[in-house]
Amino acid sequence: MSQLIEQLQWRYATKKMNPAKAVPQEKVDRILEAVRLTATSSGLQPYEVILVTNKEVREKIKAIAWNQAQVTDGSHLLVFAAWDNYTAERINAMFDLTNSERGSTNEGFEAYRQKLLSLYPPRPAEENYAHAARQAYIGVGTALIAAAAEKVDSTPMEGFDPAALDEILGLKARGLRSVVIMPLGYRADEGDWLVNQKKVRRSRKDFVTEVR
Ligand SMILES: Cc1cc2nc3c(=O)[nH]c(=O)nc-3n(C[C@H](O)[C@H](O)[C@H](O)COP(=O)(O)O)c2cc1C
Repeated sequence: MSQLIEQLQWRYATKKMNPAKAVPQEKVDRILEAVRLTATSSGLQPYEVILVTNKEVREKIKAIAWNQAQVTDGSHLLVFAAWDNYTAERINAMFDLTNSERGSTNEGFEAYRQKLLSLYPPRPAEENYAHAARQAYIGVGTALIAAAAEKVDSTPMEGFDPAALDEILGLKARGLRSVVIMPLGYRADEGDWLVNQKKVRRSRKDFVTEVR
């Protein structure tokens, strides 16, 4: 079995984390770097990650996250927050950054910028948010794999009140909406009903259709 597959077998949505065991900062940094490097549609990176370690803030978040204990038993909490809309300013900022980093402009790239500018900003904000949130989910998937590769436990969570979380973190004023949260930590020695349960997935035959 490849190392990656072994790591993914080891990973599970941890239900009980050990509050006495903190994830070393360099591991958290590598997980965040993996998310920063992952793919997004048109490279717009239309979401941000908020890294919450403050215990009081995490207590407040736990209260609006179905009281899921991992929020405070983990040592770090990642909040994936998508842009609430695509604006010309946001699109231009990413294209300008690319041009400046690459030290060149390119006719095809500029034509693509104009295409996105004509396509995205006129659309309803909700449709643009939904598109941005899909990119955030790619970040969540990347974080899950990166955490497993670091032998760090994690729990992806949609079980929270996004409007309440946006309020706690002041996201609305920044044009962001929370999508998924992910505590990072280490599985507790006991008290996790899921840790020894078999990982259940549909068979490959029922999951992959081959068109030969
Ligand atoms: C987007 C998303 C949201 C989830 N929300 C929660 C959650 O709020 N609480 C929780 O304990 N698990 C949550 N899960 C974990 C899933 O239930 C879990 O990944 C799934 O049952 C497969 O099990 P495994 O990850 O342990 O292999 C979520 C998973 C994803 C991908």
